[in-house]
Amino acid sequence: MSKILVTGGCGYIGVHTIVDLVQNGFEVISVDNNSKSNASILEGAAQIIGQPIQNYAVDLCNLKDTEHIFEQNSDITGIIHFAAYKAVGESVEKPLMYFENNLVSLVNILKCAAKYQVPNFVFSSSCTVYGSPDTIPVTEQTPQKPAESPYGATKQMGEVIVTDSVKSHPIQAILLRYFNPVGAHPSSLIGEIPLGRPANLVPAITQTAIGKLPTMQVLGTDYDTRDGSCVRDYIHVCDIAHAHTLALNLLIDKKATVNPEIFNLGTGDGYTVLEVIEAFEKTTGVKLNYTIGPRRAGDVVAIYANNNKAKDQLGWAPAYQLNDMMSSAWQWELKLKNESTQKNQ
Ligand code: WQD
Repeated sequence: MSKILVTGGCGYIGVHTIVDLVQNGFEVISVDNNSKSNASILEGAAQIIGQPIQNYAVDLCNLKDTEHIFEQNSDITGIIHFAAYKAVGESVEKPLMYFENNLVSLVNILKCAAKYQVPNFVFSSSCTVYGSPDTIPVTEQTPQKPAESPYGATKQMGEVIVTDSVKSHPIQAILLRYFNPVGAHPSSLIGEIPLGRPANLVPAITQTAIGKLPTMQVLGTDYDTRDGSCVRDYIHVCDIAHAHTLALNLLIDKKATVNPEIFNLGTGDGYTVLEVIEAFEKTTGVKLNYTIGPRRAGDVVAIYANNNKAKDQLGWAPAYQLNDMMSSAWQWELKLKNESTQKNQ
């Protein structure tokens, strides 16, 4: 059984990936200092897979502490590196915090992969590396434009760091460029736990619908799109998770043709903000209280994926539709509310 180290394993995509990996025969350990996550999410994962997940509460910016994990686990055959700060707005306010955390942690985990001879490395990247593309859908060859935020810049720089590192170390890497991960595991035992007021669309929708937020804004309806609101490629987090399992299998089976391999992870369908809200209302029967607000600085007008390479070479096929994304996100929000109600009783 291959042992995989998942960094950021208590995060939204990390925990869903851990579940998928274990259900597909991998042994998994997590490292997450819980600076932006809660270790309790692993309890939900344990309920789904029927076994506990070990988490090392280590800051990956501390090389000695990170090396200690590899000294204790000499049988790690692959690393999936999720751990990073990811709030676009916060990255604009605190760029140096983002560059230090996201890049030092990446350099350290790559140093360990080289030192402890871990041959397989999957890097969590993002469609944000494309910036504002001239043509859509974007393929993996679409030229990158300047990042719209320091967060996006750390993903562009991260890809360069991985690409240059594998040239001089026996590591085969895959870069996975997520579009907009949304939704929650069908069991509602794991999902996204935003810190503070959610910046992202779908948690803003579900928190408004459940009354945690009084209202929300559609940030701009004067764009050159079919209804004036921005277009994105929303992809179910479980589809994203399964792509990581397929990526590791490709690496372990030594079927990668270039190093690193790069894959877009999107459905290939673009939906506007207003269409997502309409899908939420139709799927859940809940009317959303929103207003039309001003554009948000840095927003890309429209982006969605050409996902043919992931389909052809990873054997990946997104299984969830937009209504599944909306219903699972809503069920998770209801679960969180029930939990907080029980705690307050
Ligand atoms: C989507 C659309 C908003 C909130 C970012 C990162 C990306 C990834 C996902 C980390 C935009 C609109 C939003 C609201 C709104 N992050 N919106 N009202 O900006 O496409 O992607 O988050 O992995 O890398 O770049 O996602 O969900 O913030 O916004 O109208 O209250 O929803 O303007 O058009 P985004 P988002």
